[in-house]
Amino acid sequence: MTAMLPFGARALMSSRQEPADSLDFFPTPPWATRAFVRHVALPVLGVLGDCETVWDPACGEGHMAEPLRESFASVSASDIHPYGYGDVEDFLAQDAGVQADWIFTNPPFNLAVAFVYQALAQAARGAAVLVRTGWLHTIERYELFCQHPPFMIAYYVERVPMHRGRWEPDGSTATDYCWVCWVRGAEPRPSMWIPPGQRELLSHPDDIRRWCKPAALPLFEIEAEPEDC
Ligand SMILES: C[S@@+](CC[C@H](N)C(=O)[O-])C[C@H]1O[C@@H](n2cnc3c(N)ncnc32)[C@H](O)[C@@H]1O
Repeated sequence: MTAMLPFGARALMSSRQEPADSLDFFPTPPWATRAFVRHVALPVLGVLGDCETVWDPACGEGHMAEPLRESFASVSASDIHPYGYGDVEDFLAQDAGVQADWIFTNPPFNLAVAFVYQALAQAARGAAVLVRTGWLHTIERYELFCQHPPFMIAYYVERVPMHRGRWEPDGSTATDYCWVCWVRGAEPRPSMWIPPGQRELLSHPDDIRRWCKPAALPLFEIEAEPEDC
């Protein structure tokens, strides 16, 4: 029997509303980037991991750039906000002109279309953005896709939990995500699905130490040791 949901609950669950001025910092689970590299970037986009440059221009705290570095020799990272990781720069204020072979990023939702136009102007070989599947709709996207037909869309079949401001290794979500990819000069190809089991297969024991902030200090005061007299 299907559980009853209050009216409107499903729509709320699958939407992620952000205020227009939000930086939209939702870190990507490291395993999700590794799955993109393994199933999409290397075999389908044809990234040459040893000799091509990759750039995440909205790197946050490096949750995506660091897993990219596990496979690609040259990865640069920047963000408009000083998170203490990567260079600090506004991607949309960059001068046009090629800056990297590939741009891979999880862009701020409200600026994702502008990010794609900018990425296509700045990447020599191609670009891919991680977006929720609902992003594929709307007239603004229609105009983008008519002007720049994607090479391919790769859907996660597993849920990719993303939370504002932090990565939660045991998190869950009702939002679906996919990668929209462009490869310069290549004919579009059919969509693909990133196979299940990636979260378990590609989570590393070290990830939690690398990306989870230590728990808040306990809310009690530790008594000072009595001083020797
Ligand atoms: C969804 S988060 C992705 C963070 C990281 N790439 C990851 O996957 O974990 C979006 C990031 O875009 C950054 N951002 C927002 N506007 C930006 C801009 N104009 N230029 C560069 N970065 C921007 C935010 O600070 C935030 O870190």
